[in-house]
Amino acid sequence: MVATTSGSREGWSSRTAFILAAVGSAVGLGNMWRFPAEAGENGGGAFVLFYIFCVLLIGLPVLLSEVLVGRHGQASAPESVRRVAADSGASKGWGIIGSMGVFAAFLILSFYCVVGGWVLYYIGVFAGDLFQTGLTGGAFEGRAASDIEGLLPGLFGNGGLMVGLNLGFLALTFFFVARGISSGIEWVAVYLMPLFFVLFLAITIYGAFTGNFGEAVSYLFTFDFSKLTGEVMLAAVGQAFFSLSLGVAGMMTYGAYASRETNLGKTSGIIASADTGVALLAGLAIFPIVFAAGLSASAGPGLMFASLPVAFQQMPFGSLIGLLFFIMIFFAALTSSVSLMEAPTAYTLEKFKLPRPVATAIVGVGAAVLGVLSALSFNEMADFRPLAFIPIFAEANFFDALDGVTAKLFMPIGAILTCIFVGWIADARLIDDENGLDGALHQIWRALVRFVCPIVLAVILAFGLFG
Ligand code: PFF
Repeated sequence: MVATTSGSREGWSSRTAFILAAVGSAVGLGNMWRFPAEAGENGGGAFVLFYIFCVLLIGLPVLLSEVLVGRHGQASAPESVRRVAADSGASKGWGIIGSMGVFAAFLILSFYCVVGGWVLYYIGVFAGDLFQTGLTGGAFEGRAASDIEGLLPGLFGNGGLMVGLNLGFLALTFFFVARGISSGIEWVAVYLMPLFFVLFLAITIYGAFTGNFGEAVSYLFTFDFSKLTGEVMLAAVGQAFFSLSLGVAGMMTYGAYASRETNLGKTSGIIASADTGVALLAGLAIFPIVFAAGLSASAGPGLMFASLPVAFQQMPFGSLIGLLFFIMIFFAALTSSVSLMEAPTAYTLEKFKLPRPVATAIVGVGAAVLGVLSALSFNEMADFRPLAFIPIFAEANFFDALDGVTAKLFMPIGAILTCIFVGWIADARLIDDENGLDGALHQIWRALVRFVCPIVLAVILAFGLFG
């Protein structure tokens, strides 16, 4: 059964499939790789608690706004916004929200696949180790700690390998997106997300019994108000959006494949809870290792990749657990990268009336070109600072600049415009009919979307950029 409303358009085959796909989009490298790295770079507790505040007060209402625009529009993100605008008697110019989002999703896709490539590399490293040393003992038996610590710098220093892995991960993403919604994207979500959760729970429970949680808990949850600067707040809101796939057309695109019967309010709650739960547990899994191994919490993008192999070296069955861990991250990353690729692909195929594989290939070639620049920015192009004229991005290489601009500019701006559009411009009856909320919850959501979210976001943006 295909549960979409409009004739020939493909859709999710069930509500569960939609939930798994949307949770799959949300849960990804953002939770396991970006969240700990951002928390570490922004001082721990203050960042984490403000991040949770952002998820509840801003992320959740914006998530519901995005999926409902998508479901009403039943099209690519720009066209969905235009349809809601047209049905509300407003200007179709609001479609710019969707167009900006599609462009930002494309930018994120390009560097996301670079990190996806690192995951592939570590799968190879652990698989090789398992093959060589067998099941017993920790990973990398007999090898010096400096060897293990050298893995990531070794990878970063090898431009050819970085580019190859990046293109490999992009090609895998292409394969599933080109197959379409039900036999590609939904397939990935329905099979890989449950596997991800099983592996994730097993590994975190294992970590809880073997690791030292104390220091990590106090680092992540001690709220030091003095550390809450404008820049930290902007980083936290950016992380909340990145993690929930918001502000960049990702959730609008997926909402467009949802059926009329799906309760979007409830579904949004499930997506946000699953996503935040995984991020916090990932933090609790990674920081005990970071502290125990004497690594710096503010190591930046390499944090997860540098810290985990050290822990797996000391763990019983380390090579096997390490391999399973990176396979699990690979599943989570793939279910997110397909959503990043789907947003620009849905737009390209609709706009130019192209067959899906052709539209996907066009997006893929563009992402490959940008991805190469990101992959090389860890060594060969390390001195290239594309945004040196913007103070908060002055030090950023190409990779960091794309990451910073999308999470700290495109996402908050996209979300502010979405709130204004859904809260003030769109016909309230149309919105009420789509959102699946009643009574007090509905009133709270409306107040958040109309007043709290746009104002708080504008203030954070101003403070973060100029404060
Ligand atoms: N939410 C994904 C993650 O946390 O890894 C990243 C992402 C996917 C961002 C899709 C934006 C998006 F549209």
